[in-house]
Amino acid sequence: MSKKIFAKTFGCQMNEYDTNRIIDTVKKIGFTKTENLDDTNCFLLNTCHIRDKAKEKVYHEIGRVKKRFRLKKKPFVIVAGCVAQAENEEMLKREPFIDLVIGPQAYHKINDKIEEYLNNQRRLDETHFDAVSKFNYLDKIKNSSKKISSFLTIQEGCDKFCHFCVVPYTRGPEYSRPFNEIVNEAKILAGNGVREITLLGQNVNAYNNENYKLSNLILEIEKIPEILRIRYTTSHPIDMSDDLIDLYGTSKKLMPLVHLPVQSGSNKILKLMNRNHNIEYYLQIYEKIIKKNPSAKFSSDFIIGYPGEEESDFNSTLDLIKKIKFINSFSFVFSPRPGTKASHLPLIDRKLSNERLTIVQKELFNFQKTMNRSLEGNVIEVLVENRVSESAKYFGRTGYMTSVIFDGKDEDVGKLVKVKINSSNQNTLFGETLEISKLRVA
Ligand code: SAM
Ligand code: SF4
Ligand code: F3S
Repeated sequence: MSKKIFAKTFGCQMNEYDTNRIIDTVKKIGFTKTENLDDTNCFLLNTCHIRDKAKEKVYHEIGRVKKRFRLKKKPFVIVAGCVAQAENEEMLKREPFIDLVIGPQAYHKINDKIEEYLNNQRRLDETHFDAVSKFNYLDKIKNSSKKISSFLTIQEGCDKFCHFCVVPYTRGPEYSRPFNEIVNEAKILAGNGVREITLLGQNVNAYNNENYKLSNLILEIEKIPEILRIRYTTSHPIDMSDDLIDLYGTSKKLMPLVHLPVQSGSNKILKLMNRNHNIEYYLQIYEKIIKKNPSAKFSSDFIIGYPGEEESDFNSTLDLIKKIKFINSFSFVFSPRPGTKASHLPLIDRKLSNERLTIVQKELFNFQKTMNRSLEGNVIEVLVENRVSESAKYFGRTGYMTSVIFDGKDEDVGKLVKVKINSSNQNTLFGETLEISKLRVA
């Protein structure tokens, strides 16, 4: 019987990258990827633990698969990712349908574990932290991503221990991959047809391997002619060093959207969160980058209703949003995570938190809508990623990550094209390539 793997991924871009690398890995023992759940004999669920009900969401998802296979031979079920790391053997105890629980730093062992199970049918838990062996192993397996815009993990784990966050517990200590391995992987991706690389890490700008920093990596990847755009995420303000800031003035391929999570506009809350910087420091980074590139724009992550957040703290967050005019940002109500320092703090009223979240999101979305509207009638550069399935439209992104849907042609895919913007909404710009627009006018 042919071996097929079906994967479902929750969580951040690092999980997406990991899922793809797991699929590259299991190819070595004969598995091929399927998009059809009914057709699979291996179900992989890559999980996220960042906010509420993460665990329940996993059991719910497994329950759905269980139901689907009620009358058929059950697939081999793997739970990977951050919930797997946090819950480990508890998951095997609670849900007999799960066969293997594997943590994010153990993916290099996945083939051995699958074969071990297939040989003796004993359910397994593998959640040791071992980032060095993981990447040593994965470096030998070709990254097969052919997406025009692809992820490349350069750094994993976190030593910062913000009081709200589970990442240091689920992803382990900070580890930076060797410089040459990353550059080699970028070249492989370029050879596969990839044109945009997003460098990933839970603390991507803390990257440091034998004194090579993130700025060195960007400059080296920039030399690969096929790579047209470079991005990185997620960074911490404290690691925004001047060499990286300088690139906003000099790099030809680093995109001008700076995703720099601030979490709160209040110094009191930043201190309670253990963020180790204040708002004045954040504003200094903003000023420095804008000086290097006046067209740079910022996006951010916000946590609303953190324990201790008073009206005045919340207003400081709103003031910061108005000052910086963030685009494409993420905002969530604080969710207590097991094992973190903030999980013991008294929660503020949920209704109040939700009301504040609504206000923040309205403000953030307004900037987005206004910015998108201001682009109507303009011609902007778009990296074309794909044809929108079953339609004559194409999908791409601006340098600021805004989605663009437009009339184009197949040859445009993988290229930077000029698109005339005709209309917009909060999240998307709509238009046609300049070429088509000129033909229409003629
Ligand atoms: N390393 C990044 C930084 O320092 O900002 C953040 C990475 S974290 C995976 C992504 C985002 O999830 C955070 O920026 C934060 O806004 C959100 N987040 C993390 N823990 C949270 C919690 N307990 N409740 C609500 N949002 C949370
Ligand atoms: Fe979590 Fe980011 Fe803080 Fe690390 S720096 S603990 S990943 S929020
Ligand atoms: Fe979620 Fe783990 Fe990423 S908790 S956000 S999948 S690092």
